[in-house]
Amino acid sequence: MAKRLFIKTFGCQMNVYDSARMADVLAPLGYGPTDRPDDADMVILNTCHIREKAAEKVFSDLGRLRKIKEARAAEGLPMVLAVAGCVAQAEGEEVLRRAPFVDIVLGPQTYHRLPEMVAQAARAGGAVLDTEFPTEPKFDFLPEARAEGTNAFLAIQEGCDRFCTFCVVPYTRGAEYSRPAAAVLAEAAALAAQGVREITVIGQNVNAWHGEPGWDLGTLLTALAKIDGIERLRYTTSHPRDMSDSLIAVHRDLPELMPFLHLPVQSGSNRILTAMNRGHDRDQYRRLADRLREARPDLALSSDFIVGFPGETDADFADTLALVAEIGFVQTYSFKYSPRPGTPAAAMEGQVPEPVKEARLAELQALLYRQTEAFNQACVGREMTVLLDRPGRYADQLLGRSPYMQPVHVRAPGQRIGDVVRLRIAAVHPNSLEAVPA
Ligand code: 5AD
Ligand code: SF4
Repeated sequence: MAKRLFIKTFGCQMNVYDSARMADVLAPLGYGPTDRPDDADMVILNTCHIREKAAEKVFSDLGRLRKIKEARAAEGLPMVLAVAGCVAQAEGEEVLRRAPFVDIVLGPQTYHRLPEMVAQAARAGGAVLDTEFPTEPKFDFLPEARAEGTNAFLAIQEGCDRFCTFCVVPYTRGAEYSRPAAAVLAEAAALAAQGVREITVIGQNVNAWHGEPGWDLGTLLTALAKIDGIERLRYTTSHPRDMSDSLIAVHRDLPELMPFLHLPVQSGSNRILTAMNRGHDRDQYRRLADRLREARPDLALSSDFIVGFPGETDADFADTLALVAEIGFVQTYSFKYSPRPGTPAAAMEGQVPEPVKEARLAELQALLYRQTEAFNQACVGREMTVLLDRPGRYADQLLGRSPYMQPVHVRAPGQRIGDVVRLRIAAVHPNSLEAVPA
């Protein structure tokens, strides 16, 4: 009988990609997906360590899963419980100490070995811990990616060598690694053959990709655009320091590349940017935004922000607000600084009190929300292409995404999922745009 696998994914797109690949790795063992942990023969929590809140959620989930596992055991049913991802990598021993009923703890770089770990856990009857950084890249051992739907993530790069002082990624994901171009192109072609129309190439620092001598991310995107069936491309997440001239030029020259870029700035204060070890200041970011918009005038920017980084004063925060007002972002993620064990900023003086962080976050988010709203309103009357990717609530309704990632719904009999259609935006709803055929 088929075995059932339940995966819960926390955190970033890289984890979404990894979860899909873990399912691919386990499929030959007879595991198929279920959306309920209660009837799962195996449960994987694919965890995130980026902020304390994200990491703590894992332990509360484990408490619930323990009860389910015990209830199943009482009925003679198995449940292999695995903790994967960045919490496993950073706190593997702690996971086993606090949750000794966990069977497998594995880091982001070892999941190609999951079949062995499952066998080992069954044999040994004790927990298996594998948080190594193997010398061989896991990508060389993964089966062909299976696509679900019209959009797919494709990991081309992993890890980070930039060492921003707030960030755990260099420790949980390891040193920067770029996959070779041939492997990336082959995976993209396999996805396209399965019906994928839009690929988002991902990496923790994706624009540092250097998988082929003489190539950069721009060259790779240009090659990806030539694959039959690929109509739209995106990439995320980028570091401002790694935006090369040739990559900027590709925003002008490659129509398949969507005019939307997530380019985190984190702060608008030069003092804080230095303390964060970002390697750029506010003027450099501003110039970068200008050059991108010269290359692609309809480009919209998205960003991440951290408020309450150690030492951040009211004046520093005012600099962030001023930069946001000046640049204008259409979609953003903003967070209170969260000290992460082992990172330099966690040990810095001048940690900002929680109520100050909260007040700053609320003020920043109010401004960012107004910008998103204004952008959505400005889309009304505009024509844009939408990739239809899901059925809607009504028989003749389909849902999709605009070039700017906005969810769009349209009543368009005769059109099909997977079509890229030209629509006119007719109205703004709380969580989506309504469109009519152009
Ligand atoms: N505290 C708060 N936010 C953080 N981020 C990364 N590390 C931290 C931290 N310690 C945010 C950054 C990053 C996004 C993925 O998460 O803004 O771009
Ligand atoms: Fe979270 Fe970073 Fe790990 Fe992604 S790479 S899951 S954001 S800690």
